[in-house]
Amino acid sequence: MKRVNKSPDSDLGTQSDPDNGSNYDNVLRDPVAQYGFEFNSMRMMGLAVVTLMLVSVLFSVSVVLRDPPDDGVWEANEAKSFEVKSRKEEDSFQSAEVPKELLGGLLSAEFDKKSCLSRYQSAFYRKELSRKPSSYLISRLRSYEALHQRCGPYTKSYNKTLQKLKSGNQPESSDCNYLVWISFSGLGNRILTLASAFLYALLTNRVLLVDPGVDMVDLFCEPFPEVSWFLPSDFPLKNQFDSFDQISPHCYGRLLKNNNTMNSNGSSRSFVYLHLVHDYDDHDKLFFCDEDQSFLQKYNR
Ligand SMILES: *[C@@H]1O[C@H](CO)[C@@H](O)[C@H](O)[C@H]1NC(C)=O
Ligand SMILES: *[C@@H]1O[C@H](CO)[C@@H](O)[C@H](O)[C@H]1NC(C)=O
Ligand SMILES: *[C@@H]1O[C@H](CO)[C@@H](O)[C@H](O)[C@H]1NC(C)=O
Repeated sequence: MKRVNKSPDSDLGTQSDPDNGSNYDNVLRDPVAQYGFEFNSMRMMGLAVVTLMLVSVLFSVSVVLRDPPDDGVWEANEAKSFEVKSRKEEDSFQSAEVPKELLGGLLSAEFDKKSCLSRYQSAFYRKELSRKPSSYLISRLRSYEALHQRCGPYTKSYNKTLQKLKSGNQPESSDCNYLVWISFSGLGNRILTLASAFLYALLTNRVLLVDPGVDMVDLFCEPFPEVSWFLPSDFPLKNQFDSFDQISPHCYGRLLKNNNTMNSNGSSRSFVYLHLVHDYDDHDKLFFCDEDQSFLQKYNR
């Protein structure tokens, strides 16, 4: 569970974990990993889930989320209808609508082009998108960016959450929930887990904040306009990141094991640590179950 600091070119992919191979097999055979879909027919999706399970260390700071169930249902319906629509539109897709470097609208047009060269050059190193990104995805990305601007580092909501975290009190009503990604493992693993963490944040209306670790700031462009995605260095729990593990009092798996998801006052906690690394156990894996996700959504309400 220690942060691994290696040079980027020596730690690509899964090489950084000597015992990764065997763990990988174990996870593929694990019923939890395959829950809900067939691995062969949905290989990509399976891979994303498995990598998330293998190597990512996530930890979530939750405040209040308004009406998540209604929102969730609405989103699911929207997603379905747009899926159907985008298939029909496929043939008539013209890339001329949006400048090529914005990747069909996946990238916000709000950036200053000089802020990060590779953000705009990446489009020229790959083939043109063969499909138009769904308009639902684009609208979710834009609304995520708006959420990030409202809740990101040093905003009013962020400051308020910090105060509550420091004082150990249960945060008051706020519509900003946070997911903090802890920098861990090799570059390949970090890229995959960061993508998984962003998807999780998008699906659960959380704001993704990234622990800069040793070199994250130099490796990645800021993806969201106006506000940084990097966790400020004065974040109160930051010095605990290296010590978080399966026996930490805030570890979700451990809380489940001890039947102790509430604190002594009967209220919920201000944050949980999710141990989603290759050595996670059956309790940690319950994170992937619907029931546990409903519980995590209500965290701190
Ligand atoms: C949040 O706190 C920082 C310093 O801790 C301060 O500079 C900033 O202005 C605060 N933001 C708001 C919106 O009050
Ligand atoms: C866990 O706690 C709940 C409610 O407090 C209780 O109903 C349940 O029996 C407990 N389970 C175990 C295994 O102790
Ligand atoms: C429990 O509640 C009391 C009074 O309501 C409060 O002072 C105390 O800090 C709470 N303890 C925890 C662990 O939240």
